[in-house]
Amino acid sequence: MSQATLIDGKAIAAELRAGIASEVAAIKAARGLVPGLHVVLVGDDPASRVYVASKEKLAAETGMNSVAHRLPADTSQADLLAKLAELNADDAVDGILVQLPLPKHLDTDAIIDAIDPAKDVDGLHPINAGRLAGGKASGENLLVPCTPLGSMLLLKRVLPSLSGLEAVVIGRSELVGRPMAQLLLQADCTVTITHSRTRDLPAVVRRADIVVAAVGRPAFVKADWIKPGATVIDVGINRMPDGKLAGDVDFAEAVTVAGAITPVPGGVGPMTIACLLRNTLTAFKARRGS
Ligand code: GUN
Repeated sequence: MSQATLIDGKAIAAELRAGIASEVAAIKAARGLVPGLHVVLVGDDPASRVYVASKEKLAAETGMNSVAHRLPADTSQADLLAKLAELNADDAVDGILVQLPLPKHLDTDAIIDAIDPAKDVDGLHPINAGRLAGGKASGENLLVPCTPLGSMLLLKRVLPSLSGLEAVVIGRSELVGRPMAQLLLQADCTVTITHSRTRDLPAVVRRADIVVAAVGRPAFVKADWIKPGATVIDVGINRMPDGKLAGDVDFAEAVTVAGAITPVPGGVGPMTIACLLRNTLTAFKARRGS
């Protein structure tokens, strides 16, 4: 039985961070400045705490000024907006990320809308989402959501050209499915976005040269949905009862059908934070000149 190529996101992310670290060092040597990334966490959701701690640590390792603002769970909308206004106004702040999900009493859309689009390293502000949807720019110079950006970088590692390929995105979230589809479209794929109401999902997925699974359900995508040789990007990070992480794809079976596949963990996950750092550098260059 053939085995798919494993796409080693962990190694590719480490390479990406090393490149960012040397750019940060060069900027520091030339200008005495370092990019600043500010992550805002409201409350104490355990998964979010872990993510924010990793973001803080890895940003610091690239030489950036890395700051985490940990606010209490009962922070008011007005107080959070005031914090964002302060970060927007501070010239030393290049990137702002508000960790999601926010506590239920907060209006997430209004919070995201309050981030300066030039500092929106999550790429979620409607201005950035709109630019992406309008095909105005590529990930090179636009702030696009980190998980889709990381997924694209992985795809480009294994596929010499994406042009004309059939891509099926499973999931239509604001953070992953929708921006992923836009990036694939910009890379000249023929893109289908599927979701919970899609009829005969297995048949749709079987057409795909590229499958991106972002549904948040362990082993949702079965091996017999996958066209032999297809490239499979598994965005799912599902915590199993035994504490292990599992993706959205039935990996053990799919690895015998796919041409290339990302493991979970060690696939898309590490790329997300590496792309956050890349976006911070992109924001620094756009705002303060490269
Ligand atoms: N929570 C889970 N993933 C993300 C992300 O990419 N950005 C933000 N802000 N919150 C998240």
